[in-house]
Amino acid sequence: MAKLTRREMLKFGLLASGSGLLASSGVGCSLFSSSRIPSPTTTRFPEGWSLSIPEVLSPSSSLSPDPAPPIRLGYKMYEISQEERQHQFHPDLPPSTIWGYNGTFPGPTFHARVGEGSVVRFHNNLPQAKGFGVPRTVVHLHGGHQSSENDGFPTDYFLRGESKDMVYPNVPAGGDHRETPSTLWYHDHLIDFTAENVYRGLAGLYLVFDDKDCGDETNPRGLRLPSGPFDIPLVFTDKRFSPDDGSLTYDSFDHDGFLGDKVAVNGRIHPTLSVYRRKYRFRFLNASNARFYEFFLRLEKENRSLPTPFVQIASDGGLLPTPLSRSSFLLTNGERVEVILDFSRFSEGDEVILENRIRQWDGRGPNERIATGEPGTDLLKFRVMGNPPDGDPSQIKDRLRELAPLPTDLSSLPREDLIFDRKSGAWVINKKFFDPDTALITAPLGKGVIWRLYNNTSRWWHPIHIHLEFFRILTRNGKRPPDHEICRKDTLILAPRDEVEIFVQFRDYPGKYVLHCHNLEHEDMFMMARYDVTES
Ligand code: C2O
Ligand code: CU
Ligand code: CU
Repeated sequence: MAKLTRREMLKFGLLASGSGLLASSGVGCSLFSSSRIPSPTTTRFPEGWSLSIPEVLSPSSSLSPDPAPPIRLGYKMYEISQEERQHQFHPDLPPSTIWGYNGTFPGPTFHARVGEGSVVRFHNNLPQAKGFGVPRTVVHLHGGHQSSENDGFPTDYFLRGESKDMVYPNVPAGGDHRETPSTLWYHDHLIDFTAENVYRGLAGLYLVFDDKDCGDETNPRGLRLPSGPFDIPLVFTDKRFSPDDGSLTYDSFDHDGFLGDKVAVNGRIHPTLSVYRRKYRFRFLNASNARFYEFFLRLEKENRSLPTPFVQIASDGGLLPTPLSRSSFLLTNGERVEVILDFSRFSEGDEVILENRIRQWDGRGPNERIATGEPGTDLLKFRVMGNPPDGDPSQIKDRLRELAPLPTDLSSLPREDLIFDRKSGAWVINKKFFDPDTALITAPLGKGVIWRLYNNTSRWWHPIHIHLEFFRILTRNGKRPPDHEICRKDTLILAPRDEVEIFVQFRDYPGKYVLHCHNLEHEDMFMMARYDVTES
């Protein structure tokens, strides 16, 4: 059976009555209806199954052939091969076939520094597609501030056997240090197939440091945030495995948003991390296709959620102006939150569980918070060891990174509406399916703009992501947004009927970019728009 792309289905009118038509017309119905079949059971927090931390990628001394100009002096050069490998998600499961950057899931972590650009040569060494995943790839640095050619536009793919250099200057927008990011991630962005390729494993982290957030907790000129082995990324993805042979499964016909029933943290289900009685920095990334999480912390022996365990220090767009104490936090697809957890409040031998307390039945979005007293979904176990041998030199300062002031006269800025809606079993923005050849809206370079985002559906949630620049949320449903949304963002939650006004200023790069829903199945089902930044 030749696989129709979603775009072809749209062209042939097959979407008109939704995916139900496809199922009932016999197009792969039994083959692909894996959406609801439960995975084999796996042991909770098996002994010796520790949290894996993606390795930090080392630069290469040169690339051969040399990258094309204009590569400025001082850029660091990296090489990554996209490969198929076997990956162990859990000791009770057989190894699964994944596609990974350097063959790993998550991919290697970049440590970039402001002012030192990176050139990354990505090689596409993926095999012929079998099952899900399409071996044409586009690499996008999510949250990155880079030119259009280096942003991973969804049609800028390269094929098996080909390579592509991506250039990331690592200069904050407008050269303004207040715009410095912190936790970015890179992932596949192939038109129509991002969901399959990311689910297969094509995702990794890209961390940005500067003189303040310097990655050294002992440096008196920096912010003293926990660093090195105490700065740990946590990448959350939900996966599903075949009850027959334990292989990783996906349902290419689930256009609502595919949900797994097992959550991998940095590629492992139910891992344990041993921690000293000191502060740690955790960078949370929701790299799941369609699942939302609300994270809580529970002390195992008391069996209750801790009141305010999280000190949030950063969001999508880097450090917050001031730290924020939180009892829990919701994380949507593509979003990042960074927190400090201080384990010195616990005793040696304590077990502390990170759990998700949101129920979600399908790709429409979260259904409800789990009631107090009922068990949540356990994700990661912290086992508290003794005091750190070298003490805890880290600090949480009152002031982290200030926000650039908003323009005083917002009312004079150009405005656009972006209406997110459902149509013919797929999704539209301003009544249009994604069209890579036509800009839905334009924005002038330099000036700021105000965009009003409105979710015109009554049951679907849409995590909306805008490339190129961080934005600021001005109002949410007519009101001032909550404190944790007063920061630089690149992804926001648009719950049913939500109306959000944002301010965004395109400063450095003219050209074509995209904005889209980061529920990856929605994105692939056309909930994406090209926008052009234009020089006047
Ligand atoms: Cu995280 Cu357009 O992507
Ligand atoms: Cu992005
Ligand atoms: Cu959506």
